[in-house]
Amino acid sequence: MKNKKFKHKALLLLIGLLALFLFGCIPTKGPASTGPASLQEIAAGDAENGRKLFMGYVHFQNEGPPCMGCHNVGAHGLLGGGALGPDLTNVSQEMTQSELLIILANYGFTNSPVMEPIYNEHPLTQTEQADLIAFLNSSAGEPEEDKELIVLGISILATVGAAIALGFVYRNRLRRIRKAMVDEATAEIYKN
Ligand code: HEC
Repeated sequence: MKNKKFKHKALLLLIGLLALFLFGCIPTKGPASTGPASLQEIAAGDAENGRKLFMGYVHFQNEGPPCMGCHNVGAHGLLGGGALGPDLTNVSQEMTQSELLIILANYGFTNSPVMEPIYNEHPLTQTEQADLIAFLNSSAGEPEEDKELIVLGISILATVGAAIALGFVYRNRLRRIRKAMVDEATAEIYKN
């Protein structure tokens, strides 16, 4: 079971590295870092806008990818977020505000090695950092919903659906063969 989970993580890491590689191939003139949000800006953070930024409903000013691509928060999103990064539902209780800020503003030594290069190229503005922190503060205590089962269910349904569709397309194939066999057998019987 543990081994299986490890394999799963290893696969995700591989996909992540591939994504990073592809990111690296896109030529960008990275905007200069915008620096961390101030305490006043964080206090004025807009959780609703933070949610939209996180989910990708509103684009980041410097075109960074939405957090949802790699992170889950509560039960947000029909199929949940990506599984490359940890679930962030209760992150505001597990990390201090400055630790969060260090990650979002991309400075200091505790940066995520996965996120750092991406958001270095596409830094979050101070307002975006503040809104995201407000959103993460507001999500604490929400039920963490794992949507992987739903995704699995959809895949199974799609497979069964495809099997039924193929069965329908080829529905006469066996019947034709059976008819030929029955005809042959009938002819054999009446011959005598
Ligand atoms: C390309 C995938 C990716 C994207 C996009 C991404 N993250 Fe991350 N994030 C990670 C990974 C992976 C980690 C775990 C640390 C590591 O291995 O780098 C992480 C760690 C974190 C952590 C620390 C969590 C902990 O428990 O240590 C926070 C907070 C965080 N991300 C917030 C965000 C926010 C907010 C966004 C959107 C602005 C975002 N991330 C976008 C991949 C991503």
